[in-house]
Amino acid sequence: MDIRYHSSKTFHLFNDEISYIFTVLKNGHLGQLYFGAAIHDREDFSHLIEMTPRAMTACPYDQDPAFSLEHLRQEYPVYGTSDFRHPAVEVMQQNGSSISEFVYESHTIASGKPNLPGLPATYVEDDREAMTLEVTLRDALTGVTALLRYTIFADYAAIARSVMIANQGEETVHLRRAMSLSLDLPDSDYEWLQLSGCWGRERHIVRRPLTPGLTAVDSLRGSSSHEQNPFVALLRPDAGERQGEVLGLSLIYSGNFQISAQVDAHQNTRLLCGINPFGFDWKLEPGERFQTPEAVLVYSQKGLNDMSQTFHQLYGRRLARGEWRDRPRPILINNWEATYFDFTEDRLIEIATRARDCGVELFVLDDGWFGQRCNDHAGLGDWQANPQRLANGISGLAQRIEGLGMKFGLWFEPEMVNEDSDLYRAHPDWVLRTPGRNACVGRHQLVLDFSRPEVVDNLYQQMSVILGGAKVSYVKWDMNRSITECYSAVLPPDRQGEVFHRYILGVYNLYERLTSRFPHVLFESCASGGARFDPGMLYYAPQCWTSDDSDAVERLKIQYGTSLCYPVSSMGAHVSVSPNHQVMRSTPLHTRANVACFGTFGYELDLNKLTPSELEEVKEQIRFMKEYRSLLQFGTFYRLKSPFEGNETAWMVVSADQKTAIVGWYRVLNQANKDFSRLRLEGLNPDFCYQNSVTGTAHYGDELMRCGLITSDPVSPLSELGRTDSGDFESRLYILKAK
Ligand code: DGJ
Repeated sequence: MDIRYHSSKTFHLFNDEISYIFTVLKNGHLGQLYFGAAIHDREDFSHLIEMTPRAMTACPYDQDPAFSLEHLRQEYPVYGTSDFRHPAVEVMQQNGSSISEFVYESHTIASGKPNLPGLPATYVEDDREAMTLEVTLRDALTGVTALLRYTIFADYAAIARSVMIANQGEETVHLRRAMSLSLDLPDSDYEWLQLSGCWGRERHIVRRPLTPGLTAVDSLRGSSSHEQNPFVALLRPDAGERQGEVLGLSLIYSGNFQISAQVDAHQNTRLLCGINPFGFDWKLEPGERFQTPEAVLVYSQKGLNDMSQTFHQLYGRRLARGEWRDRPRPILINNWEATYFDFTEDRLIEIATRARDCGVELFVLDDGWFGQRCNDHAGLGDWQANPQRLANGISGLAQRIEGLGMKFGLWFEPEMVNEDSDLYRAHPDWVLRTPGRNACVGRHQLVLDFSRPEVVDNLYQQMSVILGGAKVSYVKWDMNRSITECYSAVLPPDRQGEVFHRYILGVYNLYERLTSRFPHVLFESCASGGARFDPGMLYYAPQCWTSDDSDAVERLKIQYGTSLCYPVSSMGAHVSVSPNHQVMRSTPLHTRANVACFGTFGYELDLNKLTPSELEEVKEQIRFMKEYRSLLQFGTFYRLKSPFEGNETAWMVVSADQKTAIVGWYRVLNQANKDFSRLRLEGLNPDFCYQNSVTGTAHYGDELMRCGLITSDPVSPLSELGRTDSGDFESRLYILKAK
């Protein structure tokens, strides 16, 4: 890994796998030259600046008919000075002009990676893990500077980028757009892949060709959202899971975002990624700075799966933090789907006791324990235990749970308030609400104004009292509505465009303070399931409740899509009751567990309602999970068969020493007279001979990867030949152990 600056004013960042090259153009702007597989370094790459005189080109620079911003590939472009594409940055002066001219001023190159104050970001534990280049650009007229920060990692095919805009002039300006990353690519021969959906159906894979004009995903809901995820991949048309050139782009941010690709008339593609410019307006007084979130670019020549593995490793090891980052996650039972709001302390203890008998390690008390929260109309904001339900408070219940030999976890929804709550009665102005307008309620709740430090302080105090006063080992942090009428009662009119971002900074601030003060607590983020499954949250909470839809079949698509960017260790996945509460589908218990075990694993039902034989099965599932959870959660993950392409899904994990692998195979509907089926495995050692736990046979890794693992049912379900138990929603786990 190195970062070189050549006399040709060219920067080359490279490691064993990737190169990123840009240069100072003759007008002082930065020109983008290359991002892709590693190439040899050289003094000068200026021949990669493609220019040609074109008819009707707007305003060439310095009378050079070939040199116009309209066609050049740039690094942090502006609009309105002859580039007509969407820009990376827009600064409005007091006279109303938004024209600027960012010109190279200086740069530094250093080992390591600086933190981004107040924002989640990838990090290093040793300065030898990465190098960082900081390039300062200056707009001479306003004195506004843009510090472009690029980090290249020694061990990951990834570049992290962010920008810090500083007003070093004498006049107040307004930042109307400050993208974290802009990348101009020299062609448009790509397909665009995004993760889209809605509540209960998050992160489904959508893939389509790039065409001239704009392609984009974004959120304007205040959260990264159920609907879109701050991740996209660009793939060459021949690229797939196992082969081809892929570029992954992810934004470490939990609020309104936008990622777009713009293909111009000459097939250049401009990628932009950052805070959604819609409604964004940040006032920068002289001396003030604005730091954008971090964007991460990953490159692979070996298809989507290889790109995902880079994200899994980088995000699992150098974005997630804290004591739980590398630890196998506790097997939990959550009471939500077992009781909803209808519980007493004794009922909770009954649920916990049965779970403990089966081997469950952590009991999580979900919504309904605080204030007057007997349904979802009241209580949010009042984070004291309801004495009618919990006579000895949270500490009394936690003690009883610990007495059973389990750990205790608790649900919060810190950012919300019900009108029927003491907090709201005391501070009606603490909510986001536009003066003179109706304030929409969602799930009967309003959104607290987390842009205000005193609101965040209040929640910090309330939560600290609970977490400090009881043995709480786990927190589930929920967020159950989108933000509307976004307006803060205390900010002046010309700062209202800052509220969405200040809100997220408030959320990050509360997370930072709580995780620092309670470092032993495992935090799981949640926003009605998957509305904030994003890299920003991963920095504070190493796992996230993946979706409120806990049906095993639905989860195949959700977990498969999520795995494009996020590691197995981050995906909250539970076995719930059958018929399932979201889709009313009945699925076998083993299939529910076989899906959930590729996640952080737990139960979301009352085990007292299971039959004795089902309870035995649960005990066996937990025994299995305890034995293999390190491998399942931290092994190298491969997608093998897509639920978006057929009736079967498969994925697998392989241990670092390649001696153990677990293959998950799932079939949605059974068929008569089925085809034979095989899975070509990945990541095994071709020379190791693996014992197959299902068939009892042994096979070399090369056979399993090239001929495949036979997954056809061992017995045909034709009546004359005898029956099998395999019907709809069948699944198997194959444990492969090298002999
Ligand atoms: C939404 C979450 O995703 C559920 O798991 C549960 O915690 C409910 N909220 C409680 O209100």
